[in-house]
Amino acid sequence: MTRVLGIETSCDETAAAVVARSNDGRPSILSNVVLSQIEAHAAFGGVVPEIAARAHVEALDGVIDAALAEAGLALGDVDAVAATAGPGLIGGLIVGLTTAKAIAAATGKPLLPINHLEGHALTARLTDRLDFPYLLLLVSGGHTQIVHVAGLGRYERWASTIDDALGEAFDKTAKLLSLPYPGGPSVEKAALGGDQKRFAFPRPLKGEARPDFSFSGLKTAVRRAATERAPLSAADIADICASFQLAVTEILADRVALSLKRFRKAHPRPQRPALVVAGGVAANAAIRKALETLCEREGFRLVAPPLNLCGDNAAMIAWAGLERLEAGLPEEGALAFAPRPRWPLDTASQPLFGAGKRGAKA
Ligand code: KG4
Ligand code: ZN
Repeated sequence: MTRVLGIETSCDETAAAVVARSNDGRPSILSNVVLSQIEAHAAFGGVVPEIAARAHVEALDGVIDAALAEAGLALGDVDAVAATAGPGLIGGLIVGLTTAKAIAAATGKPLLPINHLEGHALTARLTDRLDFPYLLLLVSGGHTQIVHVAGLGRYERWASTIDDALGEAFDKTAKLLSLPYPGGPSVEKAALGGDQKRFAFPRPLKGEARPDFSFSGLKTAVRRAATERAPLSAADIADICASFQLAVTEILADRVALSLKRFRKAHPRPQRPALVVAGGVAANAAIRKALETLCEREGFRLVAPPLNLCGDNAAMIAWAGLERLEAGLPEEGALAFAPRPRWPLDTASQPLFGAGKRGAKA
């Protein structure tokens, strides 16, 4: 049995978890503690980096204790410590990584500095025991990208946003309509009673051969519709949210289809390859449904982690650490590893202009 403690502090969740792999290869989550800072940031309508860093300092020890207690383990029982080392807000990264270094130094266990995006990318191997290769659609507050996951540490970015991240578009739409923070769930809820055909919002890049995403034109159109009609009635807000969400699902279906076709060409087998959707926006039911339909049409299988593993959590960081530990990937010098606020998963691809780097995780 291999057991790894994971720590995640890259944005506004303070999280610790223990995951394990039994000798027969079965993965399991022994504990998964997430303390959200939503209330601390709500008044500001977004994450305030300084408040986040201080809150991580105050909460992290207790959260680690809780994760160990829930797993029924003491610090010395784990085989390694994994912590998010980037990308993310520098203050939070320093808190989590330094704490992990201290634990590693004190216990003599290996330290694994983990790329947060790799955590999202590998979660489906923990939850669904998925084999490589597969395609990943990562949609969060700071990132919107499609990654070809060929193997552990072998990631190729096939598409990315050229402006805003999708979660950011949800958050900005919510702010514009004075809906509560965080914006994604608010917009989804408001859209429920709305008329999705009332506003014909644009679908940027739809139908174009390049596989990337763009959401800033959509955001501008939402702003125009909202300001033209102010003051907005509850029905106006519902209709704007529903129309925005319909535009988003159509953009995703159109854009993602291109990468599915590319994956098919690259891997004529297996019969039903997997598209994994990850990141906070993957919690959206309308988006999941649109991706289901797309996958059905293209002969893919949609793999969506349970809601508590879509958003930021430490189980995914512990899991990435466990995979790296088992693969014997070198962690020489790990204790001197410096946090990396920017850390692309695919270091070979050229960054697109502004590519999805403007969110809280920029
Ligand atoms: O992965 P995550 O927890 O943190 C980042 O790495 O960014 O994603 C947070 C993002 C936020 O932009 C939030 O508004 C969005 O995910 N989100 C949603 C929903 N739940 C969270 N967006 C749309 N619909 C939702 N239900
Ligand atoms: Zn994330």
